[in-house]
Amino acid sequence: MSSQPLQSSGAPAPHGWEPEIIAFCCNYCAYAAADLAGSKRMQYPSNVRIIHSPCTGKIEMEHILAAFEKGVDGILVAGCLEGGCHFIEGNLRARKRTDHIRDVLDQIGVGRDRLKMVNLSAAMAPTFVQSVKEIVETVRSMGPNPLKAATKESAGSL
Ligand code: FES
Repeated sequence: MSSQPLQSSGAPAPHGWEPEIIAFCCNYCAYAAADLAGSKRMQYPSNVRIIHSPCTGKIEMEHILAAFEKGVDGILVAGCLEGGCHFIEGNLRARKRTDHIRDVLDQIGVGRDRLKMVNLSAAMAPTFVQSVKEIVETVRSMGPNPLKAATKESAGSL
């Protein structure tokens, strides 16, 4: 049996396909953890693009859904530990918002597991690396974002 991931159409993912992942990192603990991972030369998949945000509380549902609409395959939201947010409750709001968006992703057929949130201290570089590896593996097993194919099809019909 093939272990190649399937697209939402049931067709196998294109040969050599690699998921495109975005990691929204708050500018404090999460970005510091990612930076520490880099300076310690810890290996993590290269198909992850890090985007700074002042705080995970500033990442709105529109930002996440817009990224999925543009074809990103998975998103990691990384913020400070609970109780450690520099804007007090930003990460708690982000957790609620992320949980809600995961429900929406299920409802629209994208799949909740393409979005994950993790809480980190600045010293938790190994946890950052592990979280990145996990979301890449999860999304790889899910196949390409079905919205990407839908966007290409609608662009092709114009
Ligand atoms: Fe890090 Fe708010 S400043 S989550």
